[in-house]
Amino acid sequence: MRISVIGCGYLGAVHAACMAKLGHDVVGIDLDKNKVDLLSQGQAPFYEPTLNELLSELEGCGRLRFTTEMAAARGSEVHFVCVGTPQKRGENGADLRFVDAAVEALIGQVAPGDVIAGKSTVPVGTAARLAELLAETEPGATLVWNPEFLREGHAVTDTLNPDRFVYGLPDGSEDHPAVAVLDMVYATPLGSGTPRLITDYATAELVKTAANSFLATKISFINAMAEVCEATGGDVTKLADAIGLDDRIGRKFLNAGIGFGGGCLPKDIRAFMARAGELGADQALTFLREVDAINMRRRTRVVELTRELCGGSLMGQRIAVLGAAFKPESDDVRDSPALSAAAQLQLQGAVVTVTDPQALDNAAKRFPELPMEPDLETTLHKADAVLLLTEWRQYRELDPHDTLALVTAPRILDGRNVLDPAKWRAAGWTYKGLGRP
Ligand code: UGA
Repeated sequence: MRISVIGCGYLGAVHAACMAKLGHDVVGIDLDKNKVDLLSQGQAPFYEPTLNELLSELEGCGRLRFTTEMAAARGSEVHFVCVGTPQKRGENGADLRFVDAAVEALIGQVAPGDVIAGKSTVPVGTAARLAELLAETEPGATLVWNPEFLREGHAVTDTLNPDRFVYGLPDGSEDHPAVAVLDMVYATPLGSGTPRLITDYATAELVKTAANSFLATKISFINAMAEVCEATGGDVTKLADAIGLDDRIGRKFLNAGIGFGGGCLPKDIRAFMARAGELGADQALTFLREVDAINMRRRTRVVELTRELCGGSLMGQRIAVLGAAFKPESDDVRDSPALSAAAQLQLQGAVVTVTDPQALDNAAKRFPELPMEPDLETTLHKADAVLLLTEWRQYRELDPHDTLALVTAPRILDGRNVLDPAKWRAAGWTYKGLGRP
């Protein structure tokens, strides 16, 4: 198939490469020349495991190219819209400027029979509005809403082997010719048994926001239990293990800690609430306000616990912050709980140094006043307290004895509950987890 992918960020760059891997002829289009140049040289403009390997593998195959020219979309049979929908400045709703601009520019390039497949996360009602726009100019083309569920850090495998495909169609009908077109695009994963669900537009849009809301709720639920454990002396990790053994609950996404961040979960639950408000259904989602509040409280809790760990005052305390990315295996720092806690600690008088194996460049752009140090040992050197805030493997595997020799005071806050408290305490450390005694 001839495919165009509009937007080459965390979603689009991976989607374009994976579509070429599936055998299609792909052009990736982005306004950012820098991104396009890097991708054209076979380099990912961000850190995503195995993406660089995939880009090199595809170099020279002649089936993957990148450009800043929207006219390059002409001639493709399927056009994937993969641009961002960030939170509006000062408001909860999603900013749809990029989606609107992409679709408007694309409409001039499509031909009868083409399929525009929206992958961006959008407020319910967006697809219907864009479909009307398309019908005015090119009634022979179809808009399908085909949400993406990939996780950063696993983006390539999630794109090639997703849990499911959802096709949202104007009439929700299986017989629509666009179904067969998308089935050809996804023939390989469909052939290996990936389920495919056909819905109307609204349901397809809601599947994505509902899934992210559920995941956010699961994390905030366990973090609420962590608060109760903190008040009672219980251990939230054992509680999660025990309730997670119930199949109906499951252990995944029950890791208590400093909470969720990133470019998706936080803004998606806010945009969902804002949209429900516009639709007069705000009561249905008021619980998400609490999910958000529990999540934000974890960041404050890290600051309080660090103060306790440092004997009551943060003034002049040298704090080593391990992790800047919102999660391991990513260089994405959007709404990163680690950075937000680090900035708070600095504001309250601590002398903070942040390290991260991949995210320091992005972190420095967002927080230019936070000192960053690429070397882990240098970061730990003479620390009065160590905070593990993003659970990269190298931090999970730190040796308590070796680390002890580097710091001034052996105090550690395990913001992700990934260390073995007994091992660290036995080595002479004061260990604090979140929601653990
Ligand atoms: C999330 C969803 O998981 C994807 O399915 C979705 O496609 C994506 O958003 C999106 O909308 O594009 P992602 O933001 O990459 O993916 O990251 P997650 O793996 O969901 O983690 C989100 C945050 O939750 C991270 O900060 C992580 O550290 C935190 N988390 C996760 C916890 O605090 N506890 C857990 O048990 C799990």
